[in-house]
Amino acid sequence: MAAASSAAHPAERPAKERLSIEVHFDPGESWSLPEDALRGLSARQKYIPSKYFYDERGSTLFAAICDLPEYYPTRTEHALLDRIAPEIMERSRPSDLVELGSGDARKTRSLLDVVGRNGKGTRYVPFDVSESMLRDTASSLLDEYPWLRVHGVVGDYECHLAEIPRGERKLVAFLGSTIGNFDTDRSRKFMRDLSSRLAPGDHFLLGTDLVKPRAVLEAAYNDTAGVTAEFNLNVLNVLNRELNADFDLDAFEHIAFWRSRESQIEMHLRAKSSLRVRVGKLGRTFEFLRGESILTEISRKYTCKSVSRLLRGAGLSPTGWFPSPDGNFALSLSTPSQLKFPGSGLKF
Ligand code: AVJ
Repeated sequence: MAAASSAAHPAERPAKERLSIEVHFDPGESWSLPEDALRGLSARQKYIPSKYFYDERGSTLFAAICDLPEYYPTRTEHALLDRIAPEIMERSRPSDLVELGSGDARKTRSLLDVVGRNGKGTRYVPFDVSESMLRDTASSLLDEYPWLRVHGVVGDYECHLAEIPRGERKLVAFLGSTIGNFDTDRSRKFMRDLSSRLAPGDHFLLGTDLVKPRAVLEAAYNDTAGVTAEFNLNVLNVLNRELNADFDLDAFEHIAFWRSRESQIEMHLRAKSSLRVRVGKLGRTFEFLRGESILTEISRKYTCKSVSRLLRGAGLSPTGWFPSPDGNFALSLSTPSQLKFPGSGLKF
């Protein structure tokens, strides 16, 4: 069997020789639940950063959300990417395909399939906080694509973008409308950081969910099966486990609504009655009035104009706008502007 497969791909090297992984993730510096929880639970509008949703159970629940009938973004983006992948690869011709928040790389295969058909060598550079997820994904991809080389970077893309290897020609993909989970300051900072890592000729592929009627948006975050509610409430399990807190999950309810002025969905956990929560590891007790909430996630929705503003504000020129046929979701392609003025990222 081994002889037959090496005969079929004479130049092919074993999977482990096509893989390298570097770890830059230092849990101390960017991922501090005690500090984030103390700050968030002491604020007037209490909040918990949405990155803490994704423990093992949270990641499983998020995968289930992606399959819900009401949650259109994932399948819409995937179908769109399948359709436009040849054009994206043709225009960007990457030596390195960098994916920020690569996860299980479900959608990445649309892009790699195009490379495979053209028989060119592209290196895949997945960037993710989870080393185990990154290793699993890399090993599946190395099996599926015998020509592929993978260079994984374990890190937080809000701190470690400098660790993206200097490729000859990069295509950096940031999919899933994850940018929508950043508030204005964070998204500007992220975009400027990213833009500073791109050289002329590099490309940035961004997935953004689009503004649409309230009923459609709110249904996507209030599914009838209650999976999103479970996903939201699970962050309290994370706090209970990691910080020795005593949140009673039955005392809170999931709410999600569209705030049109901010162009964002907000998810909160609302206290059904007034209560106190002890957080052992912080040595603190937090009080909730009846109806008071913890903001757990914002999810911004965009228009062609607001995406263009976001990109231009960071010194990138939009070169392609690809909305899905139903207008629900869009991918955009951009490239560093030829003229970069100092501080242009601050001008709007
Ligand atoms: C992580 C951006 C893909 O904001 O829609 C899904 C997370 N939250 N349902 C989003 C999420 C509730 C999601 N993304």
